Amino acid sequence: MTDLGSRNGVPRHVAIIMDGNGRWATRRGKPRSFGHRQGVEALRRTVRAAADMGIDVLTLYSFSSENWSRPQSEVRFLLELLRRFIRTDVAELHKSNVRIMIIGGRDGLEPALRTMFEEAETLTRENTALKLVIAFNYGSRQEITRAVQIIARKVAEGKIDPADITPAVIGNHLDTGGLPDPDLLIRTGGEQRLSNYLLWQCAYTEFVFLPEYWPEFDASLLSRAIEEFQSRDRRFGGVKAQTA
Ligand code: FPP
Repeated sequence: MTDLGSRNGVPRHVAIIMDGNGRWATRRGKPRSFGHRQGVEALRRTVRAAADMGIDVLTLYSFSSENWSRPQSEVRFLLELLRRFIRTDVAELHKSNVRIMIIGGRDGLEPALRTMFEEAETLTRENTALKLVIAFNYGSRQEITRAVQIIARKVAEGKIDPADITPAVIGNHLDTGGLPDPDLLIRTGGEQRLSNYLLWQCAYTEFVFLPEYWPEFDASLLSRAIEEFQSRDRRFGGVKAQTA
């Protein structure tokens, strides 16, 4: 049952839109690639901080379905950063008992990258500390579409009765099936939009928009966002508990 009216604790699931790498670099007269590189450092700091704070799930938007439209050189650079991150960081994350999960479309990805994803997921499958969910080639509308296709197939095969399709059934067919919905969504970089991120899952999520660019993100900004979250009155569509 939802604990209406009480102070929020540490959010169980934090989702982040890591925005502003390019602008951060440009402001410093550096190429955008420099911002992305520093973005990976911020990502490492954030994973450590989230684990230390006892957050259960951290979902990071690393590359959207729409990011393929960026200049080819930037797409190549981002893919290489991700490959390098998996090659160099997965062993350490595994030692720290972090479970790695990747969400987003896998069809059409280069086979080597798919293999890397599968190996990282398999290696860390039994880990019980932080769940680090990396959204790659992710778009919420595409994810919902895939879920609808799977459900429609099951209906056609007679495995699901349409009358039994509930929000929980739909949620379980999303890439995030089995994970709790985000309690807190943070977007850095000053923009205030969702950009096709976790649209279904964010029905009751608290949003915190920060003006700082992603490469500046650290434990203290994460704490500040969590303090803001803790000051919010979450009612989940209900009413606040009456005081006598
Ligand atoms: C937004 O900055 C950031 C991204 C599109 C990608 C985020 C990527 C990283 C943090 C590094 C790579 C990730 C992994 C998992 C190794 P932007 O380029 O949109 O910045 P701008 O809005 O200032 O142009």
